[in-house]
Amino acid sequence: MKTIIFEDPKEIAAYILDALASSLKKKPSLTLALPTGKTTIPLYKKIVSDYKKKKLDFSKTKTFQIDEYLNNKNDFRKFLIKNLLSKINVKKENQNFISTENPEEPREYEQKISKAKIDLMLLGIGVNCHIAFNEPGSPFDSKTRIVSLTQSTQRANKTKIKSALTIGISTILKSKKIILIATGKHKAQAVKEMIEGPIETKCPASALQKHNDVTVLLDKKAASLLKKN
Ligand code: GLP
Repeated sequence: MKTIIFEDPKEIAAYILDALASSLKKKPSLTLALPTGKTTIPLYKKIVSDYKKKKLDFSKTKTFQIDEYLNNKNDFRKFLIKNLLSKINVKKENQNFISTENPEEPREYEQKISKAKIDLMLLGIGVNCHIAFNEPGSPFDSKTRIVSLTQSTQRANKTKIKSALTIGISTILKSKKIILIATGKHKAQAVKEMIEGPIETKCPASALQKHNDVTVLLDKKAASLLKKN
């Protein structure tokens, strides 16, 4: 696990853009997994602005959503379309979303992702150490499935929604490369447990220590509890 600490979220976005541009140059048909959440906003803004400056071409890129609330409103799909996908040139047929109405979706979406093989998985982290919606206690061999949301996640996300569909921890670990972003003081404890804590289901993000190509990008606040900081 490689950890890099930046002054602010803008610098994190610039770092990812460099990585993304060189990955796209090597492989225009890159398969990307996309998170939602406040942390991603500066990043998606930067992707859109670099795309507008004609620095990036997504015409062969495939994208995958990683989680969705089970409230029949497709909140996270809408977030991705509004903040990113409607503003760059990923073809509609290459945009993969979770369909919460299909009872077979967990199995079918898992198959779709496995077949596509994610080149670059972008992730955020929950204050309780969740990745995607793999809440504490999620088995490390978990696949795409329906989960219950903890009260801590409901509080952090200001929602009363009780369940979600998420890709699993094993689905995440199958990605070739993983970049996790965390910003803000409220993420510092989860970041510490993910990086310095034991690998245990109490902190789902600690499973990332088992992967051989994970980069964690932090601002100073999120890194503030780390020993080496
Ligand atoms: C959300 C999503 C995650 C996201 C995390 C952090 O609820 N399920 O995919 O990475 O929690 O969200 P935020 O960036 O808003 O703190």
